[in-house]
Amino acid sequence: AKVAVLVSGSGTNMAALLYASRLPDSPYEIVLVASNDPNAGGLSLAEAEGIPTFALSHKGMSREEHDQAMDAAVRSSGAEYIALAGYMRILSDEMVTRWEGRMLNIHPSLLPKYKGLKTHERALEAGDEFCGTSVHLVTSELDGGQVLGQAPVAIMDSDTPETLAYRVKLAEHQLYPRVLADFVSRPFDSGWLLERVRALAM
Ligand code: GRF
Repeated sequence: AKVAVLVSGSGTNMAALLYASRLPDSPYEIVLVASNDPNAGGLSLAEAEGIPTFALSHKGMSREEHDQAMDAAVRSSGAEYIALAGYMRILSDEMVTRWEGRMLNIHPSLLPKYKGLKTHERALEAGDEFCGTSVHLVTSELDGGQVLGQAPVAIMDSDTPETLAYRVKLAEHQLYPRVLADFVSRPFDSGWLLERVRALAM
């Protein structure tokens, strides 16, 4: 399966997805890395690794216009799936609908706990014993789509948001490639297709 990865930052999850895709028998390949930030570290890494890239700043454009351009780049890459990996933009409804069931995101908490930002701070403040990471399908509800996989991370007394974020990322780098590989390999779901046809016809 062909996958486009969207990043806004350093792209360590993108790197984990890419390096896993180069191991024998990977069921997916990364065909594009795209970003809303032309200076994103993830873009230069993708370039160094010989992966096609696309960058377009969202500044001075509407959300719809920006998403349309991202979508056009993704489609011309031939990607069948999108993996968001630290993509810090809320997507337009049009983009979400177009890719529904084929767009995944990784989020640094055990969803449904701590949707949104500052998840590590919030888990520490709450005195939680565990935090972790979730891979989920993207829907119009922020961090609210079906959870496809999770990995827990124990919180230590000595943890700061930074030390915790570091270990959560280690867990993410294991989880995301595994969940993506399983997802693109799942048996064909005709119920899902019927739902989609119905939703588009309405
Ligand atoms: C990850 O923690 C991910 O869960 C969140 O953004 C972060 C991206 O980190 N959505 P990186 O750019 O992959 O290092």
